[in-house]
Amino acid sequence: MTFGFRPLLVACAIFALGSSALAQDSDAATEKAIEKYRQMLKEDPWSNPGLLDADRGEGLWTSARGPKKVSLEQCDLGKGPGNVEGAFAELPRYFADADRVMDVETRILWCMEKLQGFDRAELIKRPHPGGGQPVKELGAIATYVASKSSGMKYSAKFDQPKEKESVALGEALFVRRSGPFDFACTTCHAAPNTRIRLQGLAHLSNPEGARKVIGEWPAYRVSSTHVMTMQHRLADCFWQMRLPEPELGSDLTVALISYLTSQAKGGDISAPGLKR
Ligand code: HEC
Repeated sequence: MTFGFRPLLVACAIFALGSSALAQDSDAATEKAIEKYRQMLKEDPWSNPGLLDADRGEGLWTSARGPKKVSLEQCDLGKGPGNVEGAFAELPRYFADADRVMDVETRILWCMEKLQGFDRAELIKRPHPGGGQPVKELGAIATYVASKSSGMKYSAKFDQPKEKESVALGEALFVRRSGPFDFACTTCHAAPNTRIRLQGLAHLSNPEGARKVIGEWPAYRVSSTHVMTMQHRLADCFWQMRLPEPELGSDLTVALISYLTSQAKGGDISAPGLKR
């Protein structure tokens, strides 16, 4: 039965070895090129296309919109109605009016619904842009709000009971295996210097690793040519785990963001950042 099969197997093995070595070479070259590109963009921060979305978000924040034709200038992000400066640095936080903990996107969603009269179900139906499409309005507003904390440090307190609960739930979700692949977030994000193909994997279970990257979100993602928000980032990792897409603004997403942000406490905010 093995007649003729073994040589084929050997040939395959040789081919596989050869092609993986080749792939590694070209991966290294591509990674270097991307690193150079990132460096060039960093040297000229104004070249980050994500800033255009922050501007678009500012326009959306200040214009009268939605069925109620009001702006978001009465939206309280935690520092009083309309106070955007530094608000992102203290999120997620507990909001008494909604009686829940919210991250920036969840809070903006809430304001768009309650103040402007937008239909929440409509806003969360397809909340993230496809490749090549610009970030949606909610994401652009989140980019604007986050950019107003750029240069500050993460300083959410997480001292209120519901905030503590959210961080604890986020941590439990982060380490919990689930789905058809039996992956947890820790399967990919709990060790230093790991990667999948070309993508370096952030070491998020480690505060130092989290501080390095969390403050860059929302970020302009070069490979898909749009700004990606943290809610979108999570949805993408859920897809990688073959889990159903988490609902934008759900307690689950807020909990994961609370956990990630508490890990990154004290880290620099440089949103909008720039990703591969
Ligand atoms: C199968 C592996 C895998 C799993 C499991 C996974 N991720 Fe990811 N994650 C990735 C990859 C790959 C990237 C980088 C993608 C890129 O470069 O575009 C990433 C990026 C991220 C980032 C951005 C890091 C940075 O460099 O800025 C965050 C935050 C994140 N993941 C959170 C999570 C959370 C939370 C979970 C669990 C719900 C999770 N991931 C599960 C593979 C995974």
